Amino acid sequence: MEFDSIFSCAFEARFKPNGLIHMNKQDHQKKLHEIIRVDHAGEFGAKVIYAGQIAALKLKKDHETLKVVEEMKRQEDVHFDYFDAEIRKKKIRPTVMQPIWKVGGFALGFFTALADKKAAMACTTAVEEVIDEHYKSQLNAIEGEEELKNKIEKFRQEELEHRDIGYENRAADLKYFKPLTHFIKATTKFAIAISKKI
Ligand SMILES: [Fe+2]
Ligand SMILES: [Fe+2]
Repeated sequence: MEFDSIFSCAFEARFKPNGLIHMNKQDHQKKLHEIIRVDHAGEFGAKVIYAGQIAALKLKKDHETLKVVEEMKRQEDVHFDYFDAEIRKKKIRPTVMQPIWKVGGFALGFFTALADKKAAMACTTAVEEVIDEHYKSQLNAIEGEEELKNKIEKFRQEELEHRDIGYENRAADLKYFKPLTHFIKATTKFAIAISKKI
């Protein structure tokens, strides 16, 4: 056999026509657990960010914004509950970073909302933009698992609605919108990278 055809056989064994990497069972399982662990951590983070915002908005008696944020938080609760049930069902270890995300997420939500309603909304646009990319890459990373993928796609659509709500509430009018969202995006990406592994 020519070198070329040996190479192409090896290539075909790994890559399916749809571009997905064909994994063996062990790699598939590892990837699946990684996806559920990081999404569980991410939705937990979203819940606590919104909880922090809600606490600050109550303190400021900003009932109008409170209603908007509480509705987003309700959707995050549903997202989290799905991954929490999966983590229990499949006996996956949650990230060890959870206590840190809890404090960090709450503080981020609390202080942005306390500083300025537009800063809270900028926080939402930044986080949801990163999560949209993150979910999109997950949908391409694994074969099968249709139920999980349908959930991820549904949640991704809701994260995009949250992002839009952030912009509709004038997030981009914040004077320090760029540096704040840059910082939050970098922090979110860092949290995702860690939560995948530990
Ligand atoms: Fe979510
Ligand atoms: Fe969200």
